[in-house]
Parts: sequence; C-alpha cells; structure tokens
Amino acid sequence: MAQQPDSLKIAVIGGGSSYTPELIEGFIKRHQELPVREIWLVDVEEGRNKLEIVGQLAKRMVEKAGVPIQIQLTLDRKKALKSADFVTTQFRVGLLEARAKDERIPLKYGVLGQETNGPGGFFKALRTIPVIMEICREMEEFCPNAWLINFTNPAGMITEAVLRYSNIKKVVGLCNVPIGMEMGAAQLMNVDHSRVRIDFAGLNHLVYGLDVYVDGVSVKEELLKKLTDKEHSITMKNIHAMGWEPEFLQALNVLPCPYHNYYYKTREMVEEEVKAASEGGTRAEVVKKLEEELFQLYQNPDLAEKPPQLEKRGGAYYSDAACRLIHSIYTDKRDIQPVNTRNNGAIAGIPSESAVEVSCMITKDGPKPLTVGELPVSVRGLVQSIKSFERMTIEAALTGDYNTALLALTINPLVGSDKTAKKILDEMLEAHRSYLPQFQ
Ligand code: G6P
Repeated sequence: MAQQPDSLKIAVIGGGSSYTPELIEGFIKRHQELPVREIWLVDVEEGRNKLEIVGQLAKRMVEKAGVPIQIQLTLDRKKALKSADFVTTQFRVGLLEARAKDERIPLKYGVLGQETNGPGGFFKALRTIPVIMEICREMEEFCPNAWLINFTNPAGMITEAVLRYSNIKKVVGLCNVPIGMEMGAAQLMNVDHSRVRIDFAGLNHLVYGLDVYVDGVSVKEELLKKLTDKEHSITMKNIHAMGWEPEFLQALNVLPCPYHNYYYKTREMVEEEVKAASEGGTRAEVVKKLEEELFQLYQNPDLAEKPPQLEKRGGAYYSDAACRLIHSIYTDKRDIQPVNTRNNGAIAGIPSESAVEVSCMITKDGPKPLTVGELPVSVRGLVQSIKSFERMTIEAALTGDYNTALLALTINPLVGSDKTAKKILDEMLEAHRSYLPQFQ
C-alpha cells in the first residue's frame, strides 16, 4: 500500500448542498490531525447559485477558523476530481422536485412514498446509479487512488452498485442512522455518547443494533425496556416515531433503526404520510422550505459558521461521520465504525460481494467488517428480501429493462402487488422521464 500523502485534496460532488457547512466544520475541527489542503466543491449547472452561496460561506468559515484550507468552487467535475485523495458524494439527481414526486405518487396507490424506501427509494436508485457509474469512470481516469465516500441515497444500493459493477474498489457508503442510534441510546441511558457502542448489522436504512454497550457492558435489555415506554424513542428529524408495542420489541430482542417503522408499522406510516401530504406537505416539500431558510442565512456575509438550524435536517451529523471515517483511513486508526462495505462473509446468508451496513475496523486499507455470523431468524428474512430487491433494482437501473424493474418493485415488501407495482412504475417512469434515459 502506498504511503499516505502529506496533505489532502477532497472533492465534494454535490458541493452546493445545504449540508456542506457541516462538512467544512468537520474538516476545520480535525485540521490538526487531518491535513486537508484543498476542498473542491463541485455541482451541476442547475445548482450554480447554491454552490456560490454555500461556497462563499465555506470560505468565510475557514478564514475565521484560521486554517490553511483552500476552498475551490467549480462546475467542472473532472477538474475537481483531478488528483483528489478523497471524493465525497452528496448529490441529488432531479433535486428536491424529483424527491417530492417519489413521495407523492406512490401514496395515490396506498403505498408508502419515502425518499429511500419502497417505490421512492427505487426511483431514486434508478436516477442515481447511472450517474455514480459515470463518476467512477472519471475517478479511474483522474484520481485512481482516491477513496469514494458516498452519502448519496440510497446509500446501500449505491455502494453495492459501485462494488459490483465499477472498477472502483475503494468505496465506503456512509449514513447517519447508526450515529443517530448511538446518540439516542446515550441520551436514554443518560451517559455521554463516547461511552456507548452498538454492534450494528444489516443493510442501509435497515440496520439493527444486535447489542448495545455502555463502557463495554451490555445494556441492551435495559435500553429495550426503556423503549417500550411510548414516551421514549430513538428517531431522526425526518421520521415521526410512534413507539413500539412492548411485547413486540421484547420478542424482537434487537434494537431496530428508525426506518424499521416503515416495515413494522407500514399501515400507520402510510396513513401518516397521506395526512402530512395533505397538510404541511411531504418531507421534500417541508425540506424545500427549510432549505430556502438555510440559504437565506448562508447569504449573510457576517455568518462564518454552521448555523444551528441545519440540525433540523434528517441528515445532521453525516459530516461528522464522514470526517471521522476519512481521519481513521488516513491515520490507520483501527477504531470501530459502522459503514456500508463489502460483506466479505461477515453476515451469513448475504453474498460476499454485496454491500452491508455493519460495524467495521477502519484501517488504511479501508473497513474490515467484524464477523456477525447468522442474523437472528426474526430479522434475517427481511434483510434478505430487501437485499434481493436492491440487487434487482440495480440491475434495472443499469439495463433499463422494464420487466426487471417491475419484478424489483413487486418484490419490495412495501408494495405488495404486481398490479399496483405496474401502475406505480408506469406513472413514475413517465414523471421522471428526463432523468431516466436508460428506459427510453
Ligand atoms: C436521514 C437519513 C438520510 C437522509 C435524511 C433525510 O437522516 O439517514 O439518509 O438523507 O434523513 O433528511 P431530510 O431532512 O432531507 O428529510
């Protein structure tokens, strides 16, 4: 393995995102141990305005912090990628307008409309996978030694697509759900986050905490008991927690993630989404307003730090997870972090070459998943069935094959009917037509 460079170039694809100030803050905080020299924020023409606003804020942030990080803004992806050491991806094909369609259309058919689950996640994958493949080809040419750290959703499927179908092997998928679960557990146990560790295993947005420790001692039973009280929950800003049935949670005997609400409370979640869509709007519509507020704030020339309002977004703490990961790869830290990576036999029953979300030791050669073995029988089936759905979806995204797309959507447990799947597929293929050239 080559020696680590003395200083780092980071390319951020989707640099105009409202999350960027958090990422910049993360690099500023760690500058002593993580010598970042340049951060290139790159976006597409449609995002030019946001890139300019957030880029100027990023410049003010590094200047105020007095760190020697150069911020570069560009619409030229190849320039941003050239000789980068780490490439982070946080782009959204079709912007929030496409997300709003992903959320609204399935609801018409009584099916969950959500950014990363069910038909919404399926269509986000169809739009995004061809683009990530293009980025991988450019990385091969312009920065073949770089690590790709992907936060773009659906993060699990994106990681799997890169692992199976590109020549980029240095890829890690990141999500803030595990960090959010640890922080939630710490709060319920009334201890500092640093004292909590969870053994994670499963898939992205379908991850379980197999055990939970405070100072190395298991507190899983105590935590699950606390969670049976409806007053207590572990959730994210974008998911309304309703509390678990005590007997169900006791029997499950592992910690579910907030996204499990969609699988174990499907009916209630659909009802809630229908209500939200007709009242305050779908999550994308709410986020659109939030973004407008954020960009208003970002334009203030006196603002030189991440505003607290950013924590209203579901993806808060992403960047902390990203900077922590980059730092551990760079320093060969060998600490334990939950990431999306090649299974390599860690979880029995999931192909070795598939992506899983699992606790890993982070080394200079990337994440080494900790052996899990078989998942409890109560959760194994759901994990395997979503993995099949993910694999079929990726195949559909790459081939543009209608029948494969229909098969993928029908086997998703949130859809539940081939006829409904077909109606949703037809309407959504039309609605997203301009972002799905592979289907034409
Ligand atoms: C969660 C998920 C992220 C997702 C985010 C959406 O935190 O883990 O993958 O992007 O929520 O948040 P938003 O504020 O856009 O609804």
